[in-house]
Amino acid sequence: MIVAPSILAADLGRLAEEIRAVERGGASMIHVDVMDGRFVPNITFGPVIVRACCRATALPVDAHLMVEDAEPYLDAFADAGASSISVHVESTRHLQRAIAHLRERGVSPGVALNPATPLATLEEILPELDYVLVMSVNPGFSYQKLLPPTLDKLRRLKHTVLARGLSLKLQVDGGIDPGNVKDVVGAGADIVVVGAAAFAAGDPEQAVRGLIEAAS
Ligand code: DX5
Ligand code: ZN
Repeated sequence: MIVAPSILAADLGRLAEEIRAVERGGASMIHVDVMDGRFVPNITFGPVIVRACCRATALPVDAHLMVEDAEPYLDAFADAGASSISVHVESTRHLQRAIAHLRERGVSPGVALNPATPLATLEEILPELDYVLVMSVNPGFSYQKLLPPTLDKLRRLKHTVLARGLSLKLQVDGGIDPGNVKDVVGAGADIVVVGAAAFAAGDPEQAVRGLIEAAS
């Protein structure tokens, strides 16, 4: 299991320290939630924050683009140093072109799905992806509760991935904590994104360590 703390819930005045703390705790990826105030009702980070994260750590930085029409911004996030970028199927009109462009740029491409978006929307693009981000809350905010039906969706996607002999990873994002992480991993998650569960208690190193223990 890869733990990817979301800096959305971090103390941003101490961003580099927060990143180094989760890294000591065992995190192996940093997740940056990019929101435009249109696709989701919140505004957060742009490429400069991805660049700041890359300066603070050697861990891969993953950008989750919750924006309307992400295509014009892919190069800016690639240039900022993102190792992987996910775009939402609901907001990307030319999904294949976006995914192919990311791969040409040497960035791992992923597609994110809102809770109510059917898995069937992935059918054609699945073989071109390095990962699928299954949202386990409606995107926009940290500190929400995981929606239990999304775990069944995750199980079905895992089954499809295995049945089609694909090697892509499944990332799950939203409401994951030590109380449910074992179920999330059991349902097929390879990468778990954690915001509040990593940063809320004020000791991110210990929080990530505790999450890893709770998953085993
Ligand atoms: C929600 C974001 C998540 C969120 C996770 O829109 O995509 O990455 O920050 O935070 P928690 O773990 O608090 O739900
Ligand atoms: Zn996210």
